Amino acid sequence: MKLLVINGPNLNMLGIREKHLYGADTYETLVQLIEDTAKRLDAEVEIFQSNHEGALVDKIQEAYGNIDGIVINPAAYTHTSVAILDALKAVSIPAAEVHITDVSKREEFRRISYAGMACQAHFIGLGLQGYVKAMEYIVENCKK
Ligand code: DQA
Repeated sequence: MKLLVINGPNLNMLGIREKHLYGADTYETLVQLIEDTAKRLDAEVEIFQSNHEGALVDKIQEAYGNIDGIVINPAAYTHTSVAILDALKAVSIPAAEVHITDVSKREEFRRISYAGMACQAHFIGLGLQGYVKAMEYIVENCKK
């Protein structure tokens, strides 16, 4: 089982950005957590972060034929990007959406998730543990 974990804009600033919302753990800590989880689940993992919408779309397209499951936190592009939604639909690889914070309890504009419409599971407001739960979900439910 090959997993792709995708993080969108500003998630590389974890541990620096709005700590009262996103916590003090850094992006490097998140990467380590994802790698440890993949090892425990006996899965291969590729981890990708970009601040650019097109780079995220390119990465999803590249996954076609190469990746069995996607875990994605599109960050701010969650609420704006039809392109990321279309890319996820185009490759139709099983996908799980993650948000560190509970986007349903924040500003109104964070309530819509375009990418989420192409995801079969959603792990919202669980902090970094959301990535662990999403990876477990994909490995348990999308075995090839
Ligand atoms: C986020 C929530 C988004 O609304 C925000 O733009 C982010 C992070 C989260 O993980 O809680 O950058 O996706």
